[in-house]
Amino acid sequence: MDNLAQSIQKVTSHKSGVTRLTLTDFRNYAFLRINAQLRPIVICGDNGSGKTNILEAISFLTPGRGMRGARLADIRRFTPAVVSNDYIPNNGSWAVSAQICKNDEDFEIGTMVENIRGDEDSESGAYNKRIVKIEGQKGASQAELGRYFSAIWLTPQMDRLFRGGSQPRRSFLDRLVYAFDNEHAKRTANFEHLYKQWYQLIKGSNGRADALWLSGLEESMAETGVAIAAARREQIARLNSFIENDPDDIFPNVMLELDGTIEKMLDKMPAVDVEDFYKRKLASERCKILYNDSVDGVNRTDFKVFFKKKRMPAELCSTGEQKSLLISIILAQTKCQILYQGFAPVLLLDEVAAHLDDLKREALLSKIKELGLQAWITSTNAELFASLEGCADFFEVKNNGIFAKGKGDA
Ligand SMILES: Nc1ncnc2c1ncn2[C@@H]1O[C@H](COP(=O)(O)OP(=O)(O)OP(=O)(O)O)[C@@H](O)[C@H]1O
Ligand SMILES: [Mg+2]
Repeated sequence: MDNLAQSIQKVTSHKSGVTRLTLTDFRNYAFLRINAQLRPIVICGDNGSGKTNILEAISFLTPGRGMRGARLADIRRFTPAVVSNDYIPNNGSWAVSAQICKNDEDFEIGTMVENIRGDEDSESGAYNKRIVKIEGQKGASQAELGRYFSAIWLTPQMDRLFRGGSQPRRSFLDRLVYAFDNEHAKRTANFEHLYKQWYQLIKGSNGRADALWLSGLEESMAETGVAIAAARREQIARLNSFIENDPDDIFPNVMLELDGTIEKMLDKMPAVDVEDFYKRKLASERCKILYNDSVDGVNRTDFKVFFKKKRMPAELCSTGEQKSLLISIILAQTKCQILYQGFAPVLLLDEVAAHLDDLKREALLSKIKELGLQAWITSTNAELFASLEGCADFFEVKNNGIFAKGKGDA
């Protein structure tokens, strides 16, 4: 065993993951509890039975809007109306709570939306705010969740990540950064908020907004933007150097690149100068907002991935190759988190077998076992995961409930 594998094993000999998951009024589940072991968990069931919803619930134990990027109001459980085709939402509250284990130590974390005002169906109501609870204390920030728990997901929607617009790739990269830098989630949310304010101010005043106010916003945007760009660069460098030192024999080795004006400027000059540049750039591009043109900056950065050996950009690779490239990134990120953060993330693999050939599927399962990870895996076909028999728990979801298959304990 080489040094790297030994260092990883030293951390993963202490287990991390979800040991008890409780959902209340979450999507199709009125109440669901799963007691889980710190090893792979295979959740099987027909289409629409509620497999992805369970993974999505776990993803809400991390900062952000979960693995579907859902609106909070869509998560609350809708029940079919008896007399019409309409769906009636419950009173708006929902909750995900979990007992998690971080390096053999137990913690209680959770997230919920409460209908504080008691309204039945108010879109703008006070309930539409996500609350985080850590060790019984409400009011923690979402970023704080990252100190206790980390999850990395792979969903069928991500099969199209490399094709189409840059926004989903940027979000994917930003999530990789969050794991190392809890402040990054706050920064990206803050930048979005500042940008919206700036945009509305220019648009609403038809270009005649208070110059001092605008330049104050531009200063904050430049400062936050440069911090975002620097954190992204750091993460890309960390992953590239890790992949270079830990080439894989089955999954393709990737090369990662950032394509963004601000990120590129950081190659050439110190951060303070880039901030000045960014601020001036924003001021000079105010008029673009009036003509509905997009304004360049960290909100336009693209995350480029290459199949190293073939020197092929990911978007030109086959569907299965693209999935394998994503798995390579996710495995490298997992190992980096283990090494640098000191605890293992949980993997949420939704329909991961799709597009993978048998060799790659089995290689992925072996890596999960080898790394001693807790991976939540969904499938309509349990047989694809037969090689996990004996070292994983198998569950079946049906009728809005979950049932252990074989020896599991739900
Ligand atoms: N807010 C909600 N309230 C009630 N039910 C919901 C809500 N949102 C989604 N659902 C329903 O939950 C069910 C399960 O969805 P889910 O995506 O988990 O299915 P799945 O088992 O992953 O299916 P597939 O195999 O097709 O991916 C669906 O029928 C969906 O319509
Ligand atoms: Mg699904």
